[in-house]
Amino acid sequence: MAAPIPSDRPICDYEGSRYRTEFWEGQGREYEDRAERLALRRLLPPTGDRIIEIGAGFGRLADLYAGYRQVVLLDYSRTLLAEARERLGADPRYLYVAADVYRLPFVPGAFDAATMVRVIHHIADVPAALAQIRAILKPGAVFVLEYANKRRWKAIARYLLRRQTWNPFDPQPVEFVKLNFNFHPRWMRARLEEAGFQPERWLSVSHFRAGFLKRLIPAGLLAAADGLLQPVGALWQLSPSTFVRLCTPPGGPVAPESALFRCPLCGSDELTVAGQMLACPQGHRWAIREGIYDFKEPISLTP
Ligand SMILES: C[S@@+](CC[C@H](N)C(=O)[O-])C[C@H]1O[C@@H](n2cnc3c(N)ncnc32)[C@H](O)[C@@H]1O
Repeated sequence: MAAPIPSDRPICDYEGSRYRTEFWEGQGREYEDRAERLALRRLLPPTGDRIIEIGAGFGRLADLYAGYRQVVLLDYSRTLLAEARERLGADPRYLYVAADVYRLPFVPGAFDAATMVRVIHHIADVPAALAQIRAILKPGAVFVLEYANKRRWKAIARYLLRRQTWNPFDPQPVEFVKLNFNFHPRWMRARLEEAGFQPERWLSVSHFRAGFLKRLIPAGLLAAADGLLQPVGALWQLSPSTFVRLCTPPGGPVAPESALFRCPLCGSDELTVAGQMLACPQGHRWAIREGIYDFKEPISLTP
């Protein structure tokens, strides 16, 4: 397989990772999973036409989109998408797309809703990614974003006890491990507004992410308690994870129902299916392999 289209932005590459088995399944994160689902259910309209999850991984949250006519699961990792497809089956409502959030292969105004959970903490150029997401949403669309909160109570305590060098009150993002960022709520709000999103509701999530609590209290109970606390996100955010529901303002393009893909290299909307590939008039061809639309690199740059 050829190398992905060179990007001037670094990507946290999960290709071939065992994210599902090494991070989630049997890894003591049932509480986080439940708390995140609760937040997403609260913020996302339960039904709609076309939704996209960006950085969907192995499709952990895909069952929450049952009320949508079409569900696009996008991720940079082909292997995680293959796992998602294996888990969810070949249901024609799901479309699997391998692509980079910095080069989304869709026409403007294609989606009624979007979600992005546990992904933006890997994004070095947040404004560029948000601009891409904003462009593919219809006017009045909903975008539910989760981000890792730099100003969480644990980071504040560690800083005050001098066990952590970085300042949780400094608005700039902190890269605590390569391509792993935590964001200050004020900084994130400013980037979201600059990108043209209108924040509507904030939830503070995963208050009880502490090993001893998770060992002592059943996950369901802990998640229910978290659910009671989540609305405090409207006033302050001191938990490790923040969910925000954003809306796009009126005006702007609405893609016709039949239009979806756009060539990420030349921007042409005239992609036609040719056998097991999509081709644009400029000669860029994109593979459809084992049910995954692959926009990571073209099959060939010339016809
Ligand atoms: C921590 S995982 C989260 C997966 C899923 N959202 C979940 O919560 O289970 C981060 C995901 O973001 C994807 N990702 C990272 N950088 C990306 C990029 N530039 N474009 C698309 N996906 C990206 C990774 O491939 C990975 O699947």
